Parts: sequence; structure tokens; C-alpha cells
Amino acid sequence: MPASPPSTRRLVILISGRGSNMQALVQACRDQAWPATVSAVIASRPDAAGLQWAREQGIATQGLYHKDFPSREAFDTQLAREIDQYQPDYVLLAGFMRVLTPGFVNHYAGRLVNIHPSLLPMFPGLHTHAQALATGVRLHGCTVHFVTPVLDHGPIIAQGCVPVLGGDTPETLAGRVLAVEHQAYPAAARWLVEGRVRLTPDQRVEVDGEPQRLFMGA
Ligand code: GRF
Repeated sequence: MPASPPSTRRLVILISGRGSNMQALVQACRDQAWPATVSAVIASRPDAAGLQWAREQGIATQGLYHKDFPSREAFDTQLAREIDQYQPDYVLLAGFMRVLTPGFVNHYAGRLVNIHPSLLPMFPGLHTHAQALATGVRLHGCTVHFVTPVLDHGPIIAQGCVPVLGGDTPETLAGRVLAVEHQAYPAAARWLVEGRVRLTPDQRVEVDGEPQRLFMGA
């Protein structure tokens, strides 16, 4: 008898804009036949460009506008309601430009993952590429990490790095970091849905029993 198929993990992806990381995740999930399905893409604004692409793929979409809610808590409560309809195993933040309340983060403890465009713990927050250029670092990149209530912080699952080149602008650097984001995030998500990621008691991530992985960009 054939072995029973691995159970299918459900993913919900949250975006705010163009959604290129979301596209990389959806495409890798399909092309590499992950034991997973992207159940929904939810945006923090109804006009997020990535929603259209997700719809065209036949994925359920939803746009919530934070200005329609009286408080951050009210927005996060409704967001969690929308997400929980799909009973996701993992919620993947992919360019989701909202600070989340501790209540929301704790609700998804161990299931909420983010990609940040810097080598954390360097340069949390916004304008990471400009910060990298201003400080003169020679290496820059991205970090895929579990989310904790502290902004841009949490156990690191994967990182991708690129050299900072003479003549780089925030835009050229962002483009090369984005290319390595599109490698690191799908890889990390695949390890998660394949059940290969373990959090050690001291809150470090192991993949197949090894420390977190590094991707080298150009
Ligand atoms: C990415 O660089 C992501 O790391 C950051 O915002 C950008 C979003 O790009 N948080 P996209 O929407 O995935 O194309």
C-alpha cells in the first residue's frame, strides 16, 4: 500500500502592497508541491495590488482597511476573525506594513512568521536599505523569523545576505535584497510545512537539527 499522503498545512498570507513575496510563496507552494495550500491572502488595504494577482490564482482574498476601525485592537480583532475562518497552521506576513498588537501576536504564537528586509537584529523598523547605506555595513539582507510582540524581533528561521556595492542607492540595494527574500521566504515556509523546524528551549530555531540557514544573494 502507498504511504498515506502527508497532511496538508493551511497557510494564510498577509500583505499590504504589491505582494511579490506572497507571489513567490504561492508559486513555490504549487511548483514544488508542498504539503500545503495557501487558503487566503488578506491585505491591510483593499487596494493592495497583490490581491488582484491572488484572485487570479483562484485564492480567496480579503482587504481590510485599518481606517475603518476605531482602534488598533479593533482592527486586529477583525483581522484575526478573518484569518481564523481558514484555520491556518501558519500565518505568513509578507510585506504586511502594520504593527500588530500583543494580543494578536500571542494568539498566533509559534504560527506567525515575518520577513524583514535587513539582517536582524540590525535595522528593525522602516527604511532599512537607507539605514544600511548610512551606517556603511558591507553586508545587508533579509530575515525570516517567528513574530514576537517586539517589533521585528523573534527566533530567526533563515537569513539571506547580499553585498553592499559601491554606488548602491536604497533602490538598487532593495532590488537585490528582494531577490534573496524570494529565495529565503519560500525555503523557510517549506521547512515549516514539512515539519522540519524546531524551536529549542532557549528560543533558537533548528532546521533538521541544524542552526538556521543562510542564503547568498548577488
Ligand atoms: C519586502 O522587502 C518586505 O521584506 C518588506 O516590504 C517589502 C514588501 O514587498 N517588509 P512585497 O510586497 O513582498 O513585494
